[in-house]
Amino acid sequence: MLQDNVLQDSFGRRFEYLRLSITDVCNFKCNYCLPDGYDCDGDRDFLSLAEIQTLVSAFAELGMRKIRITGGEPALRKDLTDIIALCKATPGIEQVALTTNGFNLDKKIDEFVSAGLDALNVSVDSLDPRMFAAITGHEKLEIVLDGATRALELGIDKVKFNAVLLKQFNASQFNDYLNWIKQRPITLRFIELMETGDNKVFFDANHVQGGVLKKQLLAQGWLPVIRNKLSGPAEEFFHPDYQGRIGLIMPYSKDFCKNCNRLRVSSKGQLHLCLFTEQGVDLRPALLNQDIAETKTRLVAAMDDKVASHFLTEHKTGVNKHFASIGG
Ligand code: 5AD
Ligand code: SF4
Repeated sequence: MLQDNVLQDSFGRRFEYLRLSITDVCNFKCNYCLPDGYDCDGDRDFLSLAEIQTLVSAFAELGMRKIRITGGEPALRKDLTDIIALCKATPGIEQVALTTNGFNLDKKIDEFVSAGLDALNVSVDSLDPRMFAAITGHEKLEIVLDGATRALELGIDKVKFNAVLLKQFNASQFNDYLNWIKQRPITLRFIELMETGDNKVFFDANHVQGGVLKKQLLAQGWLPVIRNKLSGPAEEFFHPDYQGRIGLIMPYSKDFCKNCNRLRVSSKGQLHLCLFTEQGVDLRPALLNQDIAETKTRLVAAMDDKVASHFLTEHKTGVNKHFASIGG
């Protein structure tokens, strides 16, 4: 339904935040996501610039204010700068964010910021070059950090670093991460490993409970940041002796879905009401026709089908074989 011209579901959750995947393709081989790399056989019929414009216009007319561009690896698309500019130029869109693995950020970040990029999330799954390479399959830690540093220099105040802590890999480096943000005013977010269709064995061997990290933080004097309505699913913590902040994303925690404020659209134009739902709503025909009115009708109708919560604890991972296909 539409409430005060904002998309809302039957549980009263308002959706002013869209995560838009623009490609499935990824060049990294993160062991928890695409351990064997991207399967090159799939078709690559991703949304065109014109389709993205129709989509973003429709959402903006329904009160969407923030767009996060994700992938796969979105920076593999040559027209990413145009996509950022298009989102930014759409009336109603206040914030354009990008989630990237950072592989070419050092070369491209100036261009992205000129096009209107407001916020950036970069995955940094270890601060140790060897561990980084072991997890992602690429010796690119330095490049990734250079790009992120440049983003900070350019004045993007919203730069967040994401890490998935893995029991058999980087979990022992938790304190290195904390030391790293002692003198740096940045936000570091630990994302709890989620089970997907493809990673069951890996998940069982490497899952670290978010609640365990939370206890460690509290024991070391970290304090929860008071949440507001727009906070979204991350729980944030600050510490008087540290300039940086910590965010915990704990999809297995009881109240995670209560604060859901986002919708997702895949790179092929499927609306996903949740990362873990079986079915998407196909927006593609309306997008192909550049039909903003029809796109809006479908979006409003879809809201009634959004369920209260995911069923991850029952191991129902939905269509999500891995996150590269729909965007983390
Ligand atoms: N569990 C948790 N986070 C994941 N990501 C990708 N796959 C998973 C998973 N199975 C994260 C990446 C990146 C973001 C886009 O999604 O680490 O930070
Ligand atoms: Fe890694 Fe993200 Fe690529 Fe998956 S999509 S392999 S998490 S960089």
